[in-house]
Amino acid sequence: MAQERIYNFSAGPSMLPLSVLEKAASELTNFNGSGMSVMEMSHRSRVYQDIFDETKSLLKTLMNIPDTHEVIFMQGGATFQFAAVPMNLIGVTGTADYAVTGNFSSLAAKEAAKYGNVHISTSSEDRNHTYIPRQSQISLSSDASYFHYCANNTIYGTEWDYVPDTGSIPLVCDFSSSILSHQIDISKYGVIYAGVQKNMAPAGMAVVIIRRDLAGHELPCTPTIMNYKITIDKDSMYNTPPTYNIYVLGLVLKWIQEMGGIQAMDDLRRERSSLLYDFLDNSRLFHGCADREARSKMNVTFRTDSDTLDSEFSKDAASHGFENLKGHRLVGGMRASIYNAMPVEGVKKLVEFMKDFESKHS
Ligand SMILES: Cc1ncc(COP(=O)(O)O)c(C=O)c1O
Repeated sequence: MAQERIYNFSAGPSMLPLSVLEKAASELTNFNGSGMSVMEMSHRSRVYQDIFDETKSLLKTLMNIPDTHEVIFMQGGATFQFAAVPMNLIGVTGTADYAVTGNFSSLAAKEAAKYGNVHISTSSEDRNHTYIPRQSQISLSSDASYFHYCANNTIYGTEWDYVPDTGSIPLVCDFSSSILSHQIDISKYGVIYAGVQKNMAPAGMAVVIIRRDLAGHELPCTPTIMNYKITIDKDSMYNTPPTYNIYVLGLVLKWIQEMGGIQAMDDLRRERSSLLYDFLDNSRLFHGCADREARSKMNVTFRTDSDTLDSEFSKDAASHGFENLKGHRLVGGMRASIYNAMPVEGVKKLVEFMKDFESKHS
């Protein structure tokens, strides 16, 4: 490789495992003796169907997806799902409950309000989304078609530390920034969706895991391309699916399997995030932005008490090979996104760099 790879702390699109990129590169022009790139294959061909089937089956195995649920691949990322979810599900009663704990759950709620009544069951906006509401702070509607929340708030660096209890109301969850980082009890959920560009694959697709009986209740105006039932019936091939994204997802899943599965990803996320939070808790200069019990193990938000110093830190870090540490404009400060593909070594080196910066500036 011409130039050393940097440690990329981007919130997404973000790092992919190096071995996955190298495997994709080695197969770029000729996949497995087919004489073609995966990019050039018909999605209806035998060779591609095998890639598709293997990816789907590995996802089911790794995530322990029960037979009650279907896996579908849809274009358009997670934002597409902000509309697809209500279009497909809200029609049952006309009402849906939303928990607003950050920017994306707020956008999802606003989008859903175009298609039915949206009841905000809980919100952490009063303290700029630095915490996760407790179960006792959630008010459920008696007639909600579903309850939507976002498991990991990428921008604010908070994460639900429990699965909300909604009784018989189906749970719908945006897992974009934490899917595949820990085991999820899929049986508790009606729908799980995730934009793939953080822990799964290149941007441009969402993985949707849906309880089969929830499909088929779409609003009449639902575009065919957004219809869960049709997508399930056509095995994600109503139209040309994002073939290359699905292929790379397959490579990432194989990498996870070789690393020891989802449990290994969980152990690693704990190791990486503890390194950073332990340092932040003892730092004279830096401090974490989110409440302790709400801290995300994927996106660590932190700051100094000076905007000038924050900006100097991000720039200085970038010049030392730690890229994309500038926080989102809604929060300021810094954010280190440490998804599955970030090596523990990258976080250790970042902490060393932070210690050095601290000693020079405090
Ligand atoms: C939790 C979460 N939900 C939704 C989105 C929007 O995803 P997309 O850009 O794939 O539409 C993001 C993007 O970063 C996200 O982090």
